[in-house]
Amino acid sequence: MKIALGCDHGGLNLKSAVIRYLEKNNILYEDFGCYDENSVDYPVFAYKTASQVVNGNCDLGILCCGTGIGISIAANKVKGIRAAVVSDAFSAEMTRRHNNANILCMGGRVIGEEKAVKLADIFIHTPFDVEERHLRRLKMVDEIEQGTFSCEQ
Ligand code: RB5
Repeated sequence: MKIALGCDHGGLNLKSAVIRYLEKNNILYEDFGCYDENSVDYPVFAYKTASQVVNGNCDLGILCCGTGIGISIAANKVKGIRAAVVSDAFSAEMTRRHNNANILCMGGRVIGEEKAVKLADIFIHTPFDVEERHLRRLKMVDEIEQGTFSCEQ
């Protein structure tokens, strides 16, 4: 299991806390920036990190910006990415179980470091519920992405 990490200046604090958690628990990761608090553009880091998840170099990703929103919108433009902004434990669990989310997004101006570590821990350790209804819905999501989806059922 290897985790891809990315952030902008607004999420650097949370990413740093997640890195400490990953190192303490011997979980592999790659950090695709940013690396300091200088103002940067979140799509750059969303793209770098999301690309490493879809190409298989990393299994899951964690992205942080000020709200988690901008970086999730950008990540979700990368084909194959299902990025979810989460700020509570229930959603962190359910987005793995039902949505098979492959990137967790969090906001450094929304939640604290302790919460971020807890959500990362849940996200990393919760498997997808491989059930027909979830597979069917995720197939529809893929079809929307590919432009082949039809609402007529
Ligand atoms: C940067 O100031 C901020 O806009 C960004 O971190 C994020 O919150 C965008 O959604």
